[in-house]
Amino acid sequence: GEQATGSAHAKVILLGEHAVVHGRPAIALALPHLRVTVVATRTTGAATLRTEEYAGPLDRAPDVLGPLVTAARATSEHLGCSPAGVDLAVRTGIPVGRGLGASAAAAHAIVDALVKLHGSELDEEGRFDLVQVAERVAHGRPSGLDARATRASGALLFRAGRSTPLPVALGTSLVVADTGVRGTTREAVADVAAFVERSPHRGSVLLDRLESLTLAGAEDLAQDRREALGGRMTAAHDMLSELGAGHPALDRLVEAAVGAGALGAKLTGGGQGGCVLALAPTPEDADRIVDALESAGAVGSWVLPPAASGAAP
Ligand code: MEV
Repeated sequence: GEQATGSAHAKVILLGEHAVVHGRPAIALALPHLRVTVVATRTTGAATLRTEEYAGPLDRAPDVLGPLVTAARATSEHLGCSPAGVDLAVRTGIPVGRGLGASAAAAHAIVDALVKLHGSELDEEGRFDLVQVAERVAHGRPSGLDARATRASGALLFRAGRSTPLPVALGTSLVVADTGVRGTTREAVADVAAFVERSPHRGSVLLDRLESLTLAGAEDLAQDRREALGGRMTAAHDMLSELGAGHPALDRLVEAAVGAGALGAKLTGGGQGGCVLALAPTPEDADRIVDALESAGAVGSWVLPPAASGAAP
């Protein structure tokens, strides 16, 4: 039958994850290397969903696919169509539970495919709202950062639900490396919230410092202040670990990156596993840092070259 394809990409958070859930700003960068694609096909029967782990009726998809099912239902409802008569085939290259925005990207791809299949138009705010409905199923209380960053290109500053493109003049590469340990954003967010509740004074000191790091980091990006940015990244890692988002596998990779000459490194995204982000002194240093990260146990790595972190058009 008739077909339409939707897609979205992964993201990394440069500074401000977790703090953003508590109303502080954050900076995210698109990670266009990793994408999710959804092909929507018109059929005659009940709605069906196909992923790597499931193929069957939308209604009977397992709980782990709940956010995708929610995205499909919410979009159909918004467009005034029945979810029936559509097959959704999801193909993702974004590892799940690694803080790379896999759930928000998949929801965006579903929204995109259904909007196109039905010949409708939907503005960015409408898309954002539908993805947030799915993200609430996935995460509980998502800030909206992932829903913005998995659609935007380049870098963005996110604040109070709004995102603005950030000018980037960074003349070097960022390295993303996967610990292979699966973290659950929902649990990490709950653990950080529990820390803040238990230790309100220390919690707000850490959140305020993370906010300062993020705002200064935005200036660093615009002015190519690499050393300063690297230092802020490592400082953020230590604060996020104290708040409860750390993991020994993350510390191991941060140490390996810094040992190989990175100007700084930190966990990125929800943490408690997932990925680290490291700043290379020059683009030529990225390969050495990747090698060190892989020797230290990273199961995957991606390099964001200077151009790829450039400002959104
Ligand atoms: C997850 O990529 C980022 C967190 O700040 C959660 C959120 O913003 O909803 C940990």
